[in-house]
Amino acid sequence: MMFAVGKGNQLFRVSETVFHGLTSVCIRKAMDYAKFALPSRYHGSEKSVWVEYIQLALEHKPLNLGQGFPDFAAPDYVTKALSDAALSDNVLLNQYTRGFGHPRLISALSRLYSKLIGRSIDAQSEILVTCGAYEALFASILGHTNPGDEVIIIEPYFDCYVPMVRAGGGVPRFIPLRPKKAEGTVSSSDWVLDEKELEGLFNSKTKAIILNTPNNPVGKVFNQRELELIAQLCKKWNVLCISDEVYEWLVYKPNKHIRIASLPGMWERTITIGSAGKTFSVTGWKIGWAYGPAPLMKNLQAVHQNSVYTCSTPLQEAVAKGFEIEIERMGSPECYFESLAAELVAKRDYMAKFLSEVGMNPTIPEGGYFMIADWSPLESKVNLNDETDKYKDYRFTKWMTKNVKLQGIPPSAFYSDEHKNLVENFVRYCFIKKDENLQKAHTILKNWKK
Ligand SMILES: Cc1ncc(COP(=O)(O)O)c(C=O)c1O
Repeated sequence: MMFAVGKGNQLFRVSETVFHGLTSVCIRKAMDYAKFALPSRYHGSEKSVWVEYIQLALEHKPLNLGQGFPDFAAPDYVTKALSDAALSDNVLLNQYTRGFGHPRLISALSRLYSKLIGRSIDAQSEILVTCGAYEALFASILGHTNPGDEVIIIEPYFDCYVPMVRAGGGVPRFIPLRPKKAEGTVSSSDWVLDEKELEGLFNSKTKAIILNTPNNPVGKVFNQRELELIAQLCKKWNVLCISDEVYEWLVYKPNKHIRIASLPGMWERTITIGSAGKTFSVTGWKIGWAYGPAPLMKNLQAVHQNSVYTCSTPLQEAVAKGFEIEIERMGSPECYFESLAAELVAKRDYMAKFLSEVGMNPTIPEGGYFMIADWSPLESKVNLNDETDKYKDYRFTKWMTKNVKLQGIPPSAFYSDEHKNLVENFVRYCFIKKDENLQKAHTILKNWKK
């Protein structure tokens, strides 16, 4: 059999053997992967504590108090709303919905936050629904960062802030929360910013500050005075405040969550971020949102429509129904936002008790569902030399996972290199877990201590 092979505009007839020889030479030409190296905007972001610790958990099968998600069921009216949406006679609930947010959800969010912020929030132009708070952060940061812009990041920070700022060509400027006391009962309110240090970071290149209240992992709920200082500096330097408030409902009495967008002069310079995953205990749904003034939100819309475009319709429908129910019963003990926080206080206090009992020194969180604890009093019981990591909290958490079968997260993952040493003696545990699993953690630590 003969084959036709082309060169320029000429055709040659070749035998089958010659034809296969020619094609295999073409196929065997080595791929030059150097051309496909990771783009420089992601350099330094290759490692992730989550990827590493999930792998560690798969290998050693510890009781996992590392990752932040509930191990109990979400409210049934929310999960039922999802199945109703998927099975609805309205078949369009399984098709694409409006790109910037499903009409029923933006309408519920507008009703909710208009009341909480104390102004009318336009559902169409001032709210964007995203794939989790993660995408809301991405759209806010990428939508507002030009190369060379400085972005102030309060440490500890949710670890994706920095790679996102760098991906936009921005320059992160860090300021840590530092514990003002180490002895006795330590509250997350004891972790504070140095006001002078904060003031010193603002300058004409500052584009934004990223705030996370309640904070992950310390659990700090920023108070009125602290927020007023941030607000005053944002106004003085014409700076945007990106406020990550995904734990807004998980605040423990008598603490109160204050939305910085509600402070005088702050609405027009704040983008606030929320998460259905945290609000309704459905972290796997990955529905989030951002709200703020239309001139700031249009940049987020541009990022969203050119990357994700639209989020899942039935999930948005179900989250909308959840909000419709909770808006009606807000302020009453039946409201999920109230009842979940009340349930978590008991879990928080139980965890603080057993960590103290075993010799650690926990910081009692005012909000969120994480607790950090100083493990250094137990250092003599741990063989840190078995591990090779640079930072002691990585060595401690890995050793504990392998030898004691209890997994936490090293909090230095939430700090820049220059400040990681501040939390090397700490571990982060998550307490939004079934009581029986918290009891197991207690037993594991008690037996270890013996
Ligand atoms: C502070 C903070 N922001 C944002 C997120 C991301 O939320 P979501 O799961 O809705 O993307 C998390 C998740 O753990 C978080 O802790």
